[in-house]
Amino acid sequence: MTNRLFVAQLLPEEVISELISIRNAIYKGPLPGRWEGTDKLHLTLKFLGDTEETKTDAVIKALEKNISKTGPISCEFERFGFFLPRILWLGLRVGEELFNLVKGINNDMELLGFEKEIRNFKPHITLLRIKSNPSSDFVSAFKDYKLPARKFQSNEIALMRSKLLPGGSVYSEIKRFYLT
Ligand code: 2AM
Repeated sequence: MTNRLFVAQLLPEEVISELISIRNAIYKGPLPGRWEGTDKLHLTLKFLGDTEETKTDAVIKALEKNISKTGPISCEFERFGFFLPRILWLGLRVGEELFNLVKGINNDMELLGFEKEIRNFKPHITLLRIKSNPSSDFVSAFKDYKLPARKFQSNEIALMRSKLLPGGSVYSEIKRFYLT
Protein backbone atom coordinates (compact mmCIF):
# COMPACT_ATOMS: atom_id res chain seq x y z
CA MET A 1 0.00 0.00 0.00
CA THR A 2 1.23 3.49 -0.81
CA ASN A 3 0.16 6.95 0.27
CA ARG A 4 0.83 10.18 -1.60
CA LEU A 5 2.72 12.24 0.99
CA PHE A 6 4.03 15.75 1.40
CA VAL A 7 5.47 17.86 4.18
CA ALA A 8 3.67 21.12 4.87
CA GLN A 9 4.35 24.17 6.97
CA LEU A 10 1.02 25.18 8.49
CA LEU A 11 -0.15 28.77 8.81
CA PRO A 12 -1.73 30.58 11.79
CA GLU A 13 -5.52 30.86 11.42
CA GLU A 14 -5.53 34.65 11.58
CA VAL A 15 -3.00 34.82 8.74
CA ILE A 16 -5.23 32.59 6.62
CA SER A 17 -8.26 34.80 7.34
CA GLU A 18 -6.34 37.95 6.40
CA LEU A 19 -5.10 36.33 3.24
CA ILE A 20 -8.61 35.33 2.24
CA SER A 21 -9.99 38.83 2.72
CA ILE A 22 -7.13 40.36 0.73
CA ARG A 23 -7.55 37.74 -1.99
CA ASN A 24 -11.30 38.32 -2.28
CA ALA A 25 -10.98 42.08 -2.55
CA ILE A 26 -8.47 42.16 -5.41
CA TYR A 27 -10.54 40.96 -8.37
CA LYS A 28 -14.30 40.93 -8.60
CA GLY A 29 -14.76 39.37 -12.06
CA PRO A 30 -15.21 35.68 -12.89
CA LEU A 31 -12.37 33.44 -11.79
CA PRO A 32 -10.31 31.39 -14.24
CA GLY A 33 -10.29 28.49 -11.79
CA ARG A 34 -11.07 27.41 -8.28
CA TRP A 35 -9.83 28.90 -5.02
CA GLU A 36 -7.93 26.37 -2.98
CA GLY A 37 -10.05 25.49 0.09
CA THR A 38 -9.19 27.48 3.22
CA ASP A 39 -8.28 24.33 5.11
CA LYS A 40 -5.81 23.38 2.37
CA LEU A 41 -3.69 26.53 2.47
CA HIS A 42 -0.10 25.72 3.42
CA LEU A 43 3.50 25.97 2.31
CA THR A 44 4.85 22.75 0.79
CA LEU A 45 8.31 22.04 2.17
CA LYS A 46 8.77 18.70 0.46
CA PHE A 47 6.64 16.64 -1.91
CA LEU A 48 7.36 12.94 -1.33
CA GLY A 49 4.80 11.45 -3.69
CA ASP A 50 3.66 7.83 -3.57
CA THR A 51 5.31 6.27 -0.55
CA GLU A 52 5.15 2.71 0.73
CA GLU A 53 3.35 2.60 4.07
CA THR A 54 6.27 0.65 5.52
CA LYS A 55 8.44 3.75 5.01
CA THR A 56 6.20 6.16 6.94
CA ASP A 57 7.89 5.61 10.31
CA ALA A 58 11.33 6.33 8.86
CA VAL A 59 9.96 9.50 7.24
CA ILE A 60 8.52 10.61 10.59
CA LYS A 61 11.82 9.93 12.39
CA ALA A 62 13.75 11.95 9.82
CA LEU A 63 11.29 14.82 10.15
CA GLU A 64 11.50 14.72 13.96
CA LYS A 65 15.29 14.87 13.79
CA ASN A 66 15.33 17.90 11.48
CA ILE A 67 12.47 19.72 13.20
CA SER A 68 14.02 19.30 16.65
CA LYS A 69 16.98 21.37 15.43
CA THR A 70 14.77 24.26 14.21
CA GLY A 71 12.92 27.06 16.00
CA PRO A 72 9.78 28.90 14.85
CA ILE A 73 9.99 30.24 11.30
CA SER A 74 9.78 33.96 10.65
CA CYS A 75 7.60 34.77 7.65
CA GLU A 76 6.41 37.85 5.83
CA PHE A 77 3.98 38.36 2.93
CA GLU A 78 6.01 39.09 -0.19
CA ARG A 79 3.94 39.24 -3.39
CA PHE A 80 1.44 37.38 -5.52
CA GLY A 81 2.80 35.47 -8.47
CA PHE A 82 1.90 32.84 -11.03
CA PHE A 83 3.26 29.51 -12.13
CA LEU A 84 1.42 29.84 -15.44
CA PRO A 85 -0.61 28.18 -16.73
CA ARG A 86 -1.66 26.42 -13.51
CA ILE A 87 -1.25 28.30 -10.27
CA LEU A 88 -1.69 31.66 -8.54
CA TRP A 89 0.35 31.83 -5.35
CA LEU A 90 1.32 34.10 -2.51
CA GLY A 91 5.07 34.22 -1.99
CA LEU A 92 6.53 34.51 1.49
CA ARG A 93 9.83 35.97 2.58
CA VAL A 94 11.08 33.46 5.14
CA GLY A 95 14.04 33.19 7.49
CA GLU A 96 17.20 31.27 6.65
CA GLU A 97 16.08 28.67 9.23
CA LEU A 98 13.40 27.42 6.83
CA PHE A 99 15.85 27.02 3.94
CA ASN A 100 18.13 25.05 6.30
CA LEU A 101 15.24 22.88 7.45
CA VAL A 102 14.21 22.12 3.86
CA LYS A 103 17.83 21.31 2.97
CA GLY A 104 18.05 18.88 5.90
CA ILE A 105 14.74 17.23 4.99
CA ASN A 106 15.80 16.90 1.35
CA ASN A 107 19.11 15.27 2.34
CA ASP A 108 17.48 12.79 4.69
CA MET A 109 14.69 11.89 2.28
CA GLU A 110 17.28 11.19 -0.39
CA LEU A 111 19.01 8.83 2.04
CA LEU A 112 15.64 7.10 2.48
CA GLY A 113 15.46 6.49 -1.25
CA PHE A 114 13.30 9.42 -2.39
CA GLU A 115 14.27 11.17 -5.59
CA LYS A 116 16.85 13.91 -5.29
CA GLU A 117 15.23 17.37 -5.20
CA ILE A 118 16.18 19.29 -8.31
CA ARG A 119 13.90 22.30 -7.88
CA ASN A 120 14.97 25.29 -5.82
CA PHE A 121 12.73 25.85 -2.83
CA LYS A 122 10.36 28.74 -3.56
CA PRO A 123 8.25 29.43 -0.43
CA HIS A 124 4.71 29.90 -1.72
CA ILE A 125 1.10 29.26 -0.78
CA THR A 126 -0.99 27.95 -3.67
CA LEU A 127 -4.20 30.00 -3.77
CA LEU A 128 -5.89 29.25 -7.05
CA ARG A 129 -5.75 26.27 -9.37
CA ILE A 130 -6.20 27.76 -12.82
CA LYS A 131 -8.50 25.89 -15.19
CA SER A 132 -8.92 28.31 -18.08
CA ASN A 133 -6.70 30.94 -19.62
CA PRO A 134 -6.70 33.90 -17.15
CA SER A 135 -7.47 37.37 -18.55
CA SER A 136 -4.66 39.90 -18.53
CA ASP A 137 -6.76 41.99 -16.09
CA PHE A 138 -6.85 39.11 -13.67
CA VAL A 139 -3.10 38.48 -13.94
CA SER A 140 -2.13 42.13 -13.54
CA ALA A 141 -4.58 42.71 -10.66
CA PHE A 142 -2.60 40.19 -8.63
CA LYS A 143 0.86 40.83 -10.03
CA ASP A 144 0.64 44.58 -9.38
CA TYR A 145 -1.03 44.33 -5.98
CA LYS A 146 1.03 45.85 -3.17
CA LEU A 147 0.59 43.66 -0.13
CA PRO A 148 0.46 45.21 3.33
CA ALA A 149 3.55 44.56 5.44
CA ARG A 150 2.66 41.47 7.44
CA LYS A 151 5.08 39.48 9.54
CA PHE A 152 4.22 36.37 11.47
CA GLN A 153 5.77 33.25 12.93
CA SER A 154 4.93 29.71 12.06
CA ASN A 155 5.69 26.85 14.43
CA GLU A 156 3.75 23.92 13.00
CA ILE A 157 4.82 21.41 10.39
CA ALA A 158 2.78 18.41 9.31
CA LEU A 159 3.28 15.23 7.36
CA MET A 160 0.26 15.20 5.05
CA ARG A 161 -1.46 12.69 2.86
CA SER A 162 -3.04 13.81 -0.40
CA LYS A 163 -5.68 11.54 -1.86
CA LEU A 164 -6.49 12.15 -5.50
CA LEU A 165 -10.24 11.99 -6.03
CA PRO A 166 -12.33 12.91 -9.08
CA GLY A 167 -13.37 16.21 -7.41
CA GLY A 168 -9.77 17.14 -6.60
CA SER A 169 -7.23 16.22 -3.95
CA VAL A 170 -8.25 15.69 -0.33
CA TYR A 171 -5.63 16.27 2.36
CA SER A 172 -5.41 14.57 5.72
CA GLU A 173 -2.86 15.02 8.43
CA ILE A 174 -0.70 12.05 9.41
CA LYS A 175 1.40 13.72 12.08
CA ARG A 176 1.96 17.22 13.36
CA PHE A 177 5.32 18.53 14.62
CA TYR A 178 6.04 21.67 16.63
CA LEU A 179 8.99 24.01 16.22
CA THR A 180 10.09 25.25 19.63
P1 2AM B 1 1.56 23.31 -5.14
O1 2AM B 1 0.36 23.58 -4.31
O2 2AM B 1 2.55 24.38 -5.12
O3 2AM B 1 1.24 22.79 -6.50
C1 2AM B 1 0.19 18.34 -2.53
O4 2AM B 1 0.10 17.99 -3.88
C2 2AM B 1 1.09 19.53 -2.36
O5 2AM B 1 2.40 19.16 -2.79
C3 2AM B 1 0.68 20.75 -3.17
O6 2AM B 1 0.67 21.85 -2.30
C4 2AM B 1 1.74 20.88 -4.23
O7 2AM B 1 2.28 22.13 -4.38
C5 2AM B 1 2.91 20.15 -3.66
N1 2AM B 1 3.76 19.59 -4.70
C6 2AM B 1 5.08 19.90 -4.88
N2 2AM B 1 5.58 19.18 -5.88
C7 2AM B 1 4.58 18.43 -6.38
C8 2AM B 1 4.49 17.50 -7.45
N3 2AM B 1 5.56 17.17 -8.18
N4 2AM B 1 3.30 16.96 -7.70
C9 2AM B 1 2.21 17.28 -6.96
N5 2AM B 1 2.25 18.13 -5.93
C10 2AM B 1 3.42 18.71 -5.64
